[in-house]
Amino acid sequence: MKTGEKVVFLLAGLMVLSAMVLYVLARMHIVTFWTTNDVYLFSKKSAAGYEVFEKYSCRDCHVVYGEGDYDGPDMDGEGTRRTAAWLKSYFRDPGALVPGTAHNGKFAPTFDRISPKEKDELVDLLMSLKSLPGSPNYPKPPK
Ligand code: HEC
Repeated sequence: MKTGEKVVFLLAGLMVLSAMVLYVLARMHIVTFWTTNDVYLFSKKSAAGYEVFEKYSCRDCHVVYGEGDYDGPDMDGEGTRRTAAWLKSYFRDPGALVPGTAHNGKFAPTFDRISPKEKDELVDLLMSLKSLPGSPNYPKPPK
């Protein structure tokens, strides 16, 4: 290979590598290149739900308002992906809806210690986290 060819291949390789790194950072919301079209409908009830979400450290595994961790599904857009009824029964018995759920007290906590009032507030919070078509958080069509 000529020196010129080596330089071209090296530059091309570096471009591909940096594109991959930037893509991962963007997906983790560490850098922002595109708007995600997440919509937050703030209300007194969603604010109460946010307090509950903080109180039980749900953000250790879930993202709300673009902040948190990705060990569990992104909650931004949850209000579009799921219905209030689905969330209510998930908080009552996650295993019934998601067989082999992570919320079994081993990986993720069960919802037993959360009071019914707090659960309602959590549902209000999650229902206020909407996503628009085109957002990465919008439900995908079934395969
Ligand atoms: C240790 C990590 C962890 C913590 C802490 C955690 N979760 Fe989760 N959560 C998960 C994982 C993993 C899933 C994936 C679905 C499953 O296994 O049921 C999930 C799923 C969910 C879902 C269903 C999402 C969907 O649409 O399928 C909701 C709602 C939820 N969690 C709410 C909460 C709330 C509220 C808290 C705080 C009380 C919390 N989680 C704390 C890991 C966690």
